[in-house]
Amino acid sequence: MCGIIGYVGKKAASPVLLEGLRRLEYRGYDSSGVAVLGNSTVEVRKKKGKIDEGLAHEIQSRPVNGDVGIGHTRWATHGPPCDENSHPHLDQSEKIAVVHNGVIENFDVLKQRLLKAGHQFHSTTDTEVLAHLIGEHYAKRRSGKSESNTLTLAVCDALREVIGTYGLAVICTEQPDVIVGARRGSPLIIGIGDGENFLASDANAIVAHTQRVVYLNDYDVATVTRARFDVMNLGTDTAKVQISQLEFQAEDSQRGDFEHFMLKEIFEQPRTVENALRGRVDHEGATARFGGLNMSSAELRSIERIVIAASGTSWHAALVGEYLIEEFAHLPVEVEFAHEFCYRNAPLQRDTVLLVLSQSGETADTLAALREAKRRGHRALAIVNVVGSTIARESDGGIYMHAGPEIGVASTKAFVSTLTVLSLLAVHLGRMRMLSAGRAQEILKALEAAPKQIEALLKQNEEIKRIAVKYAQAEDFFFLSRGYNFPIALEGALKLKEISYIHAEGYSAAEMKHGPIALIDSKTPTVFLVPQDSMYDKTMANLAMIRARKGPIIAIATEGDEQIRKVAEDVIYLPKTIEPLNPILASVPLQLFAYHIATARGCDVDKPRNLAKSVTVE
Ligand code: AGP
Repeated sequence: MCGIIGYVGKKAASPVLLEGLRRLEYRGYDSSGVAVLGNSTVEVRKKKGKIDEGLAHEIQSRPVNGDVGIGHTRWATHGPPCDENSHPHLDQSEKIAVVHNGVIENFDVLKQRLLKAGHQFHSTTDTEVLAHLIGEHYAKRRSGKSESNTLTLAVCDALREVIGTYGLAVICTEQPDVIVGARRGSPLIIGIGDGENFLASDANAIVAHTQRVVYLNDYDVATVTRARFDVMNLGTDTAKVQISQLEFQAEDSQRGDFEHFMLKEIFEQPRTVENALRGRVDHEGATARFGGLNMSSAELRSIERIVIAASGTSWHAALVGEYLIEEFAHLPVEVEFAHEFCYRNAPLQRDTVLLVLSQSGETADTLAALREAKRRGHRALAIVNVVGSTIARESDGGIYMHAGPEIGVASTKAFVSTLTVLSLLAVHLGRMRMLSAGRAQEILKALEAAPKQIEALLKQNEEIKRIAVKYAQAEDFFFLSRGYNFPIALEGALKLKEISYIHAEGYSAAEMKHGPIALIDSKTPTVFLVPQDSMYDKTMANLAMIRARKGPIIAIATEGDEQIRKVAEDVIYLPKTIEPLNPILASVPLQLFAYHIATARGCDVDKPRNLAKSVTVE
């Protein structure tokens, strides 16, 4: 949610900023803007809408020159999307420009004070208030002894007055070789170049320029020039600075020949599942092994209960994780929405471990759950995709998905990678308890077969497209299943909702009869996940109830199931696997189904309305 970038170097800043913003656009696309330091002035260009529909034209018609600048792509929190509310925002003196990701909770109190002091505001954003606050402190500091770090000190003064979250970058006409960055709650990294340096919300923005980065911690304030960077911390005497090497290349976050990132990421899944399994399958011990759990076997054995907290698609993965861990390890698992876990004061028994799931590793709700569990003295583990993300760094231990950058706002490959990692984790925990070597081997072999099976599924793309187009004009959908595939029904409905704006409900096939079945008619198609598993007969009975009410049925069934053809309008077949791994395979056709419906309706699948990839506010 909101992407920020800063550049100080020898190149023209505006193309670097614009390219970086394009790579950050998945974080928000309500508006975008840049501010570049020119000859004693700061030039601002900003525009409502996506970069190529607004800002790019604006810069083309009114170029900005200079080699120091900041940029922003916005997901609106305070104030509707419009040119005025776009970032960067200037202070009262118009010497200081600020871009900001986060929420300043006490902005109204600060604004009233500044208004009384004669400040004038041009937007309804909290960020403009922050810019004015920094400007006020800068003016005070400057009227004393002016030093080269005056801007940094003014930012620190302002942040001490602020309640809320921020990742921000600040420039000032009077300190033309400096960008000041700061973070609390919203991610910010420094990219280290040769004679040039960068600030960015995430590595995607700068990976084309450098592989060396510093992940800033909360309360860090960074002063970045062409030649160096210094980091101080508002809370402690010294900041912890560690230079890390990025593990991906710029090409990894390119679309290639695919029409959309989402489609590319769906098609990457045979490889991403392989990557999630690589080096983790231990056939000899009939178990899975992990490098980063940071728990001894004795500690893992003493876990009495696991709470899994996550949001959105990751929450659906958590539901599958509950089934897996409870079946393989006989360990009680509870799944919580991360935001509910934080505030409802749920009792946590002594040997409870919190497991959080997050693609981005930056979701504010999930991060808050992790911090809450740690505050209460519990161990907190994480399954995360983005290496070096805040959740990855703050958890006590964890497992990376190794899915590579996921740019499409709708999560696909990260979901399937999470399921893969959860299956391995459940085997690992199970082997410390009651899972037999024989059963564990069977699961591991089935997992290793999954990449090839996903490849086979992807070959059905054209057929899935044909079916999707047939139903593309429906206004309501149900996604139904039972057992392991119930969470996949929820995920299938979410995928369709978020990228096609069609109303879709994921529901338990069994629960339908207790009320929602009233909504079924001949215009409401149901996607029925009905693989040949232990629930098959019961799910088929539920399917018959929909059929009896004339609801059209698209079945996701196991290959070889001929019976299903008699009761469903359309059938998509899944390769055979063991019951607990059906969700990994069943996810793929649902992703393609949602994708093709959305494109048939002309929706922008990579940048759906109102959404942002990583939601870094609570
Ligand atoms: C997925 O398609 C969503 N856009 C969204 O629900 C997402 O899964 C959620 O915001 C959690 O993100 P995370 O996995 O990065 O924490």
